[in-house]
Amino acid sequence: MAVTSRTQVGIVGAGPAGLMLSQLLALRGIDSVLVENRTREYCEARQRAGMLEAGTVAALRAAGAGKRLDVEGLEHDGIYLQFRGERHHVNFRELVGRTVTVYAQTEIVKDLIAARLAAGAAIEFSASSVAISDVTSDSPVLSYVDASGVAHEVTCDVIAGCDGFHGISRPLVPGLSLYERSYPYSWLGILADAPPSTDELIYSRHESGFALYSMRSPEVSRLYLQVPADERLEDWSDDRVWSQLQLRFALPGWSVSEGRITDKSITPMRSFVAGPMRHGRLFLAGDAAHIVPPCGAKGLNLAVGDAIVLASALSDLLTEGSSTLADAYSDTCLSRVWRATHFSYFMTSMMHVLPDDPFDDLIQLAQLRYVTGSRPAATSLAENYSGYESPRFEI
Ligand code: APR
Ligand code: PHB
Repeated sequence: MAVTSRTQVGIVGAGPAGLMLSQLLALRGIDSVLVENRTREYCEARQRAGMLEAGTVAALRAAGAGKRLDVEGLEHDGIYLQFRGERHHVNFRELVGRTVTVYAQTEIVKDLIAARLAAGAAIEFSASSVAISDVTSDSPVLSYVDASGVAHEVTCDVIAGCDGFHGISRPLVPGLSLYERSYPYSWLGILADAPPSTDELIYSRHESGFALYSMRSPEVSRLYLQVPADERLEDWSDDRVWSQLQLRFALPGWSVSEGRITDKSITPMRSFVAGPMRHGRLFLAGDAAHIVPPCGAKGLNLAVGDAIVLASALSDLLTEGSSTLADAYSDTCLSRVWRATHFSYFMTSMMHVLPDDPFDDLIQLAQLRYVTGSRPAATSLAENYSGYESPRFEI
């Protein structure tokens, strides 16, 4: 016999979307149960992007999870775009009056988990047999087996599917429209114990391929190299990684500072959008509904944006009895998601090299010259990168 209980919102997945939603709902006096099939340690260690829009920073602060971010986050005025041996600065602060902040997704997840647990919230890590049922009724059910083997059935008012791309929620939405684009390259990413030799991120287009210089702290660098889509990690020794990084970022009198590589992985690149993001009383948020290629760092910001919109919609639905925001949830999110999908596609297509394609080569260079030479074009990039239409959280 399963242990039965009740909550207002059942949440599947303790990534940024699920954790942020649970935290924002609590601030509005709405209780939730969050069920995650991995361990807490696994969720806190998963390496992902780490560039936050100004709106995401504001939302984390409003959610009470901004303390460490305010101390350890690195605020940047803009980014560098490098091509043909020249490095150009695009200054977001000057162009659109907004900055961006480097703070790793791992740290956001740690901060949100700590905040939820400190508030006495229910987070079930290492759950198995997670299932959702009755989403078209007024009382959908979230069931799972907890880490000690006890089966649970939680009756909810609403269920939020924040379970990432491979989760169980999206397949429960009938008649989904799926839109997808894959790219013929991947990113090889490293984390290194090396103080970054740049003050802001460098996006470099080189004839050998794209490279991104990012960071995690004043002591730790995060760097990426464009590699073919079917590349094997075994073929990339540390020496080969550093020599390609030195080559792709090369400028006279300047070099990438090297150090011990502590993490190395390959990430495929794809754009994916599924809609609608709601079926009955099941709402999708974050990677469960959409994936962007990492160039431009929109994935985490989109997940947090969905959580903000959903928290307001559910608070209106469950506290005021008004379904207006809930009914608009999918359209509201998809409009912002498609803007970010275009921007990620634009950044990806402008920066990556397609072998043996001189037409593409010259088109990309024309575009890079335009965004670094024209103030209106640079302003558009700055506006999108730093967060266009970021939703605000108001209690
Ligand atoms: N039951 C419970 N939890 C599940 C299940 C399941 N059946 N399937 C997946 N999960 C969990 C995953 O283990 C993960 O912790 O759901 C969580 C989803 O988290 P994320 O993948 O981080 O997705 P999201 O919260 O939407 O955040 C998106 O993550 O992939 C990056 O670039 C992306 O930064 C973006 C962010
Ligand atoms: C990162 O720091 O991991 C990062 C930053 C910017 C990007 C992608 C990834 O565009």
